[in-house]
Amino acid sequence: MQNIVVLTGAGISAESGINTFRDADGLWEGHDIMEVASPQGWKNDPELVLDFYNKRRSQLHTVTPNTAHLDLVTLEKQYKVTIITQNVDDLHERAGSTNVVHLHGELLKVRSQFDERIVLDWTEDLNLGDRCERNSQLRPHIVWFGEAVPMLDTAITITEQADVLIIIGTSMQVYPAAGLVQYAPPQTPIYFIDPNPAISPTKNLTILPEKATTGVAKVVDELMNVKQ
Ligand code: OAD
Repeated sequence: MQNIVVLTGAGISAESGINTFRDADGLWEGHDIMEVASPQGWKNDPELVLDFYNKRRSQLHTVTPNTAHLDLVTLEKQYKVTIITQNVDDLHERAGSTNVVHLHGELLKVRSQFDERIVLDWTEDLNLGDRCERNSQLRPHIVWFGEAVPMLDTAITITEQADVLIIIGTSMQVYPAAGLVQYAPPQTPIYFIDPNPAISPTKNLTILPEKATTGVAKVVDELMNVKQ
């Protein structure tokens, strides 16, 4: 069975109603990204950071996967599919994808400030005073700017084994995620779906300059019609 690796960014969830990061004047829901997505921001104003992610978490309960998320699940009938997502939402899982790696963490998890291996499921608001079993404040389970990306090695190994790579809805501005494409084997066909595609043309690259819902439908249709 061939391996399909899918790298997704905020653009795949845009049509579900979740704002992307860089489409609105560099602000994320009205905030400078460093204010709410860096260790310094957390140190400066933990209440603001918690409130910010509480709003994102509660918004997540009001949105649903779109057809781009759903169409990717269809590929599993014929391929081994791994989704490497930069998104902290759970829309791939809710659509039914069975193999999802979150590079930048997950909104529905929190972790201990004291020991990052203590990770808990969390669906409601997180507040100052919510503590782990070691009595340390819990924080959002998000990889902030300047922090290590623990799932990076896993993501590299997966990308190195890609027979097909599909990249969807990412500005390719945030490393190391944006650098993953370089680990695909040289002969691997790459599809890039984004209305504003930021990637240099290469031999095996097909660019679909359109929204995720229409672009994914086309690519999935093509791949499902390929005889194995
Ligand atoms: P960006 O906000 O940087 O880029 C979103 C991309 O989605 C852009 O290239 C848009 O053109 C594209 N887009 C917009 N609408 C779309 C649609 N309907 N269909 C397909 N594409 C669409 O988001 P990311 O590249 O995901 O990290 O950002 C990477 C990381 O930066 C995020 O994971 C986040 C942020 O800081 C953390 O929070 C740790």
